[in-house]
Amino acid sequence: MENAKAKILIIDDESYIRESVRNFFEDRGYYVAEAYNGSNGLEVFEKIKPDIVLCDLRMPGMDGLEVLGTITDRSPVTPVIIVSGAGNISDTVEALRLGAWDYIFKPIEDMTVLAHAVTKELERAAFIKEKELYRKNLERANSELKESLETIKRTRDQLVQAEKMAALGELVAGIAHEINTPVGIGITGASFLQSKTLEISRLHNKGKLKKSEFEAYLDIVAKLSSSILMNMERAGNLITSFKQIAVDRTTEEKRVFNLREYIEDILLSLRPGYKKNNHSIKLICPNDISIYSYPGVLSQIITNLVINSFEHGFVSVEKGKININIIRGRNSITLLYRDNGVGMTKEMAAKIFDPFYTTARCRGGTGLGMSIVFNLVTQTLKGTISCKSDPGKGIVFNIKIPYVRPDEKNMKK
Ligand SMILES: Nc1ncnc2c1ncn2[C@@H]1O[C@H](COP(=O)(O)OP(=O)(O)OP(=O)(O)O)[C@@H](O)[C@H]1O
Ligand SMILES: [Mg+2]
Repeated sequence: MENAKAKILIIDDESYIRESVRNFFEDRGYYVAEAYNGSNGLEVFEKIKPDIVLCDLRMPGMDGLEVLGTITDRSPVTPVIIVSGAGNISDTVEALRLGAWDYIFKPIEDMTVLAHAVTKELERAAFIKEKELYRKNLERANSELKESLETIKRTRDQLVQAEKMAALGELVAGIAHEINTPVGIGITGASFLQSKTLEISRLHNKGKLKKSEFEAYLDIVAKLSSSILMNMERAGNLITSFKQIAVDRTTEEKRVFNLREYIEDILLSLRPGYKKNNHSIKLICPNDISIYSYPGVLSQIITNLVINSFEHGFVSVEKGKININIIRGRNSITLLYRDNGVGMTKEMAAKIFDPFYTTARCRGGTGLGMSIVFNLVTQTLKGTISCKSDPGKGIVFNIKIPYVRPDEKNMKK
């Protein structure tokens, strides 16, 4: 700060003190205001907002300590230097306790000592103000940063939500499209059956129904009813898959379970499916992995993978082999799933997680199995999944899920 322009307020009931201070500092380029007692001092203080105050202690009426208390209250960054008689030591100490910045005893023998104190305290005040400004700026920058972070988080959440809604919309549209065909076939078949039945019963009522006509009718009934049944079953399957996706997966409880034992149980339940064909499944998994996760979800994932290997991978394979390898990491568990089936091209493998992608539509495949697996791994288990395959070389799935140990379960939701 440029001291030469600073405003000094001297509060003293002795006019000669005020005068000598004024003369001395005005000569050095300061602006000096005077007040002759405590309450006058406060008035002038409010009016001119001085940069520094020199204040006597013993004054009639309001004394210096009260003035000091009020000033430090109203403006803690304005330095107050006590100028008091040498006999007022205890008051001076009290003044320092109340927030006086410095003191000087009267009579002031050497004005340069006071000048030095004034310069020093003005500098200190300037430094404190600067620091305060810096702190405020920092605080502002900080809160702005916090705000931007909040905005980013909100935007991200909205994006995720929008993405979810879009995915759901796509799913609903896809389902409607998929269900349309079997339901349409069902309606056509049933109405044809209805009209044929009416025709036959009319003939029957008139007693004109020939045996050959009745046999032809039976033939139509057999064909149409099985076609209707097949198509309704397909629609039913689609709806079941849809429900499976739409179900709120958080309703399933997380719990601690032994990974190896649990996977063995899953494989056992799938046994009827592969024992009759010469296929085999081999599991390599440490005995002692206890994990806090969703067992039901894991079961759904493995079941889908295994059924796919049987249905797609092993169509023309004599002895199908599936290997499931569990690798324990520090914070994650990797599940490597491999079959030695017919595999698929890279282009097909890139679409495997797309909803409704299937090469088995004619056999009743919906193409939702792997997309459900993808959602279960990434959304419910918060993991990752990737697929690699080549024609004739089988398929490999790499699934990585967080490894939450039993003792960590309370830390992680
Ligand atoms: N192990 C595998 N080997 C070869 N191809 C596979 C394998 N697993 C999946 N596929 C291919 O990926 C496609 C998609 O699989 P997905 O499970 O999503 O559908 P789907 O089995 O055809 O029908 P859904 O499971 O809904 O009844 C399959 O149609 C098949 O072409
Ligand atoms: Mg499938």
